[in-house]
Amino acid sequence: MGHGIAQTFAMAGCDVTGFDEVRAAGDSLHDRIRQNLRDFVSAELFAADQIDSTLRRIRICGTQAEAVHDAQFVTEAMREDLTAKQELFERLEPLVADDTILASNSSTFPISQSGVRLKRPERAVVTHWFNPPHIVPTVEVVGSPLTNEATIQATLELLRRSGKLAIRINQELPGFLVNRVQIAVMREVWDLLDRGVASVEDIDAAIQGSMGFRLAALGPLRIHDFGGLDVQTAVYRNLTPEIAACTTVPATVQRIVDGGNHGFKTGRGFYDYPPAVADQVRSDRDRRYLSLLKMFHQRNSAKDES
Ligand SMILES: NC(=O)c1ccc[n+]([C@@H]2O[C@H](COP(=O)([O-])OP(=O)(O)OC[C@H]3O[C@@H](n4cnc5c(N)ncnc54)[C@H](O)[C@@H]3O)[C@@H](O)[C@H]2O)c1
Repeated sequence: MGHGIAQTFAMAGCDVTGFDEVRAAGDSLHDRIRQNLRDFVSAELFAADQIDSTLRRIRICGTQAEAVHDAQFVTEAMREDLTAKQELFERLEPLVADDTILASNSSTFPISQSGVRLKRPERAVVTHWFNPPHIVPTVEVVGSPLTNEATIQATLELLRRSGKLAIRINQELPGFLVNRVQIAVMREVWDLLDRGVASVEDIDAAIQGSMGFRLAALGPLRIHDFGGLDVQTAVYRNLTPEIAACTTVPATVQRIVDGGNHGFKTGRGFYDYPPAVADQVRSDRDRRYLSLLKMFHQRNSAKDES
């Protein structure tokens, strides 16, 4: 996630410094971002002559102290380990100015937990990005009860200026907003697969061509309005007792995981991703996402003009 976040801010004209404890991750950063920027150029979302200057705005540092020196906004995108995140924030706080914003990209830990050792928790916030972060528009902004309004507003403003759809989440609930909805869908999809209701390919196709199609154009609540709330409430009452409510992973999915098949990164999950075509598969995915991003920008610019 870290390189995509760095790329987003650099594309918006910010100077970005970064640090990764694994040297190879830092060393490969510019190459990874260069490839992403080329994909943006191919999708006509970025000018080719801006690639070098954008990369020059991103500097990898040899230490954390150097990376955060003089920073106005610091975000962590390290592994999902609560103690490690707590220690990181504790270590960083004395290295930055009193009003530097400290952000966490955690998908699960609210800032009141990861920032529990901060002396100034009022400047701490979660900014929850979605993979791939340089493409997916939404970033959830979630403060704790101790986060002050200035921090929330400055974070929203920075993200919006960087082209993101920054959404303020009013409560620190587990999974924030989007992951709660995603998990609800994931539970039903995995249960349907487990019961053999349709094949992997057909489940994906059915959802892409219906729910996914409509969600990409409208939000869920607007879709419900068009469906008619009298109808929707009846469907809700009839179907909620029927759908999955389990909290254990269905056997079919657990078997795949137990077989060491963790998806794209291991070459096999629900689908196969042979190493020879892995780069191509990832680049196809990004091309699809970028074409949606283009539509998203067009829709927003039409809204701004009206
Ligand atoms: N992957 C996703 O889809 C996704 C989505 C939203 C949020 N997140 C969150 O973003 C964070 C990072 O996720 P990821 O998928 O990019 O993980 P990742 O494992 O791919 O990358 C984490 C990077 O952090 C580095 N790192 C670990 N400890 C460090 C430390 N103490 N100092 C400096 N660098 C350190 C690692 O070397 C690695 O390069 C996690 O908190 C995750 O929950 C991930």
